[in-house]
Amino acid sequence: MEILKIEHLTKMYGKGETAVKALDDVSFSVNKGEFVAIIGPSGSGKSTLLHLLGGVDRPTSGKVFVDNTDIYELDETQLAIFRRRQIGLIYQFYNLIPVLTVEENITLPLLLDEHKVDQKQLTELVKILNLDQRLQHLPNQLSGGQQQRVSIGRALISNPAIMLADEPTGNLDSKNSSEIIDLLKMFNKTFKQTLLVITHDERIALQADRVIAIEDGRIAKDEVIRP
Ligand SMILES: Nc1ncnc2c1ncn2[C@@H]1O[C@H](COP(=O)(O)OP(=O)(O)OP(=O)(O)O)[C@@H](O)[C@H]1O
Ligand SMILES: [Mg+2]
Repeated sequence: MEILKIEHLTKMYGKGETAVKALDDVSFSVNKGEFVAIIGPSGSGKSTLLHLLGGVDRPTSGKVFVDNTDIYELDETQLAIFRRRQIGLIYQFYNLIPVLTVEENITLPLLLDEHKVDQKQLTELVKILNLDQRLQHLPNQLSGGQQQRVSIGRALISNPAIMLADEPTGNLDSKNSSEIIDLLKMFNKTFKQTLLVITHDERIALQADRVIAIEDGRIAKDEVIRP
């Protein structure tokens, strides 16, 4: 089943002489449960692509369907709600809210939606993330690996259609990197969570089911390594 479909996606930044074509007519689709690694040189358009898949920015042209919803047909309010419910985003620098506790950071997407927290789901999630002893801590009282696990929790609490990660291990040492990747893989394999990860780390890319290489805003290679 197709969970994500991108059609002729193009993104220009700026105008006139300083205009940059960051993405140039990119099309592909992803099936539910796939783990896709996105690789490519610096400046090739990887983050731009992820932002467009996540509804964070709007394309210059082209379409993005997430679970059959044409997301750029939504207005700003609808898109914000859709993003909160259906897209789990993870960044290199965690992007946690410093004045909120671990528990509040994780459940924030639900609270913004005025949805009740499923305590059983929360308990299970924080146990898997090994954060059950840290629920009342603030982000600055946590290690980098722990902070990234909180951001994984926040991304997963609303059971999103797709999970997008931009260099999730880029700020971590190799032990914490392996832990984060093992967790993401576990959610992918056990819960069939669709996962797209931008990485510069070849060891991570080799664990994916499929590797998409971006060069100069285009798909240079799209290889299934694990059918
Ligand atoms: N807000 C912006 N305004 C203007 N140009 C931008 C903007 N964001 C990105 N670009 C340009 O678009 C191109 C693609 O950038 P992008 O951030 O997607 O690359 P990337 O593949 O994620 O690189 P890296 O591996 O360094 O993170 C680059 O040439 C960049 O300079
Ligand atoms: Mg980037």
